[in-house]
Amino acid sequence: MDYINLKYKPKKEDLVCLFRIEPVKGISMKGAASRVAGESSVGTWAKLYNLPKRIKRIKPKVFEIKKNHVKIAYPVDLFEKGNMSQIMSGIGGNIFGMKALRNLRLEDVKWPLEIMKSFKGPQFGVKGLRKLLKVKKRPLTATVIKPKVGLDTKEYCKSGRLIWESGMDFLKNDENMTSQKFINFYKTTKKVLKIRDSIEKETGEKKMYLANVSSETKEMLKRAKFVKDNGGEIVMVDILTVGFSGLQTLRNECKDLGLAIYGHRAFHSTFTRNVKHGISMMVVADLARLIGVDAVHIGGMGKLISPKEELYLLKEELEKKDVKKGKNVLGENWGGIKPTFPVTSGGLHAGIIPRLIKLLGTDILMQVGGGVMGHKDGIVSGGRSVRQAIDATLQGISLNEYKKEHPELRSALELWGNKTPI
Ligand code: 3PG
Ligand code: MG
Repeated sequence: MDYINLKYKPKKEDLVCLFRIEPVKGISMKGAASRVAGESSVGTWAKLYNLPKRIKRIKPKVFEIKKNHVKIAYPVDLFEKGNMSQIMSGIGGNIFGMKALRNLRLEDVKWPLEIMKSFKGPQFGVKGLRKLLKVKKRPLTATVIKPKVGLDTKEYCKSGRLIWESGMDFLKNDENMTSQKFINFYKTTKKVLKIRDSIEKETGEKKMYLANVSSETKEMLKRAKFVKDNGGEIVMVDILTVGFSGLQTLRNECKDLGLAIYGHRAFHSTFTRNVKHGISMMVVADLARLIGVDAVHIGGMGKLISPKEELYLLKEELEKKDVKKGKNVLGENWGGIKPTFPVTSGGLHAGIIPRLIKLLGTDILMQVGGGVMGHKDGIVSGGRSVRQAIDATLQGISLNEYKKEHPELRSALELWGNKTPI
């Protein structure tokens, strides 16, 4: 019970974690909470004797236990500033494998100012990305080419051109497309960015290419530089599979290069999906904003598990300066850290768009892959149907009304209705 102090009031210098804990039979909640606090900081399974006094000062305190919900305050000195790997090796480390616990879930983290200031946050954020794209109010749009992988450069460019012609803002690589046998990163990036230039001239609209630079860290930096040298303004990265350090290094490089970062969350479900065990998507959103991703996937009520409430809370966590406390939310004051654009993605099509805008507002980036690529009249009609659904919703017109004058939207609704795919 070494770490229990229910009278303790957390200081603003503490890093606070909200855990959901289920002990195994025979272990009390206090016993389990104390083990979590110890193993994630200074302790181990055996009692340690003759410890120097200063160790006491950096011991965390379990200061609240409400049913399964436990709050722990960690003194900031336990952590290395600006080192996310070190921080996560503590609060996301050994504790998740402890035999004393049936389940453990890290629901949220409240970051002290000292830690917050040691990370960069987004370079562009919501306002900056809008400025780059010259789109003031409407949701931004992106399409990932399908098939996800397998196309060669020529085939990729052909679809890419059509996607931009249809009115989409971003053309996006998929999470598992980088530089494979059938497609070379450098060759494709060069060609696609040239197409981007010509489309911009034709349409008078700004367009962006999300080239997935995820790879071994030094190679990733080389790819980011190549994007910049060829006129790109943004790179895409799989924020979790490249690792926290890889992401931080890319963020540093992108500061020097003046590039924005678009984050895909592939891998998150391996530890966010089980609501009793693992780490919540809220924490992933925090890490993305803190490290400095300008836009990040949060789900979208489509083909991926993405409850409405969670989607809303993620959007709040990414966009707000002051995030309100809630059941599984500790609340946050993000101070000078810019907002990150929430990206809704995964099984979206025109018919779902009104629901998404109603829930999330207009500061969102809508990524529609299959809902554009799978339109029965082709890619251009697919992209148009998305833009039409957005226009209708912003004008307060129902899709059923709007489709009368808009054949592309009509076809999309005939094919998919307003149902979410499975
Ligand atoms: C993603 O990267 O989020 C998915 O590949 C989206 O594809 P979809 O729009 O076809 O579901
Ligand atoms: Mg994808």
